[in-house]
Amino acid sequence: MTMTVAYAADNGLARTPQLGWNTWCALNTCGYDVCYEAEIRAMADAMVANGMRDLGYTMINLDDCWGYPRDNVTGEYRWDPSRFPSGIPALVQYLAARGFTLGVYTDSGIYTCSSGQRKFKIPGSFEHYAQDAATFVKWGVRYVKMDWCNTVAPNGTQLDPRNVYPTMSLGLNATGVPAQLASCEWGVDNPWEWAMPWMNSWRIGADHHDTWTGGDKTGASGTDAIIETLAGKAKYAGPGGWNDPDFVYTGGQGCPGQTAPGAHCPGQTDTEYITEFTIWAVTASPIIVATNVQNMTDIMTKVLLNKEMIAVHQDRLGIAGDRIGYATDAGCPAMMCQLWGRPLSGYAYAAVMYNRDSVAHNITFDFRQANITGTMSVRDLWEHKDVADGVSSYTALVEGHGVVAVRLYSCCEKSTK
Ligand code: GLA
Repeated sequence: MTMTVAYAADNGLARTPQLGWNTWCALNTCGYDVCYEAEIRAMADAMVANGMRDLGYTMINLDDCWGYPRDNVTGEYRWDPSRFPSGIPALVQYLAARGFTLGVYTDSGIYTCSSGQRKFKIPGSFEHYAQDAATFVKWGVRYVKMDWCNTVAPNGTQLDPRNVYPTMSLGLNATGVPAQLASCEWGVDNPWEWAMPWMNSWRIGADHHDTWTGGDKTGASGTDAIIETLAGKAKYAGPGGWNDPDFVYTGGQGCPGQTAPGAHCPGQTDTEYITEFTIWAVTASPIIVATNVQNMTDIMTKVLLNKEMIAVHQDRLGIAGDRIGYATDAGCPAMMCQLWGRPLSGYAYAAVMYNRDSVAHNITFDFRQANITGTMSVRDLWEHKDVADGVSSYTALVEGHGVVAVRLYSCCEKSTK
């Protein structure tokens, strides 16, 4: 007898990390995700017009905002008809015609996390995993994020992520149509250690909100804390499955009470948005933008459309980067001047000097710390210019909470401009 082992998430997808957009926090504030059909279409149109689609942002995902109580008879999951009057399959078609795929959100438990002030609770996929997988795929959905709220079963048993997520993964696999599974159990069960066979990405911690420091009353984390959580996890990620530090908030999340297109209420500085995007790119984390891209502010254009940084993120080797050490320049407080890096195709390397401190420091990246001997050429990926040739280390003045990100490449190769 021949035994074969089929890994559910061995679906051929996410060979490079996910790149896209999500409704959560884009309009209004995060707790009141008000997604609706016209918004999603307008967002897709904007992403075509502003160039995001052509740079690879081809995933459009609905978060906790679209679901509706199940059909009483069949138990089938339904979309909220007041928000999606034409239906999810029609939306899928609209998006597919423009080069996008649609993702949806569900929950592992009985209900999702937030009903967004609606009169009904939005069902989770508890006891319906395979059925929901089949329903979503039937509609044309190609990505499912599954959350972790309300996970005590009616009989009082606490659900186990190690059972629930593989069950959903097998359900998706059974449809015969490749569809991604993104877990979202906030890192409670160290998913990086066991998720690769089952998921295309796994959240590593609490929600990321649009703030640099600490967290907020919801228990969400700022960018500073999330970067520390990412350190040491690259070894678990690779083509097919990625550590997920949660959304990026480039340009600022939506504003309280505002659902009009265009509003941004930035919680971070431009420097911090550049750092956020850079660390997500070098660690090969999913870059799923959760801000309103219908109104691209200067910082959004600079960050989201930085081709050279997206090339790092999408590098075909799919080697996730990590913190590789610290700089020892005079004046750097312990562990504040950080070196992050990632090997790239073409014998190149993405090197990031990250200043966690709040005041500027000189930070030296000695290439030997990245196991690179000999000399390299250096190109600044935010300034878009070649900055050194034939050097074995590079020193930059890095502002507080900032990064300098460079591409190291060998002498005889032309840099990508
Ligand atoms: C949880 C998740 C978030 C988001 C909300 C939706 O907090 O971690 O990413 O999906 O639920 O309610």
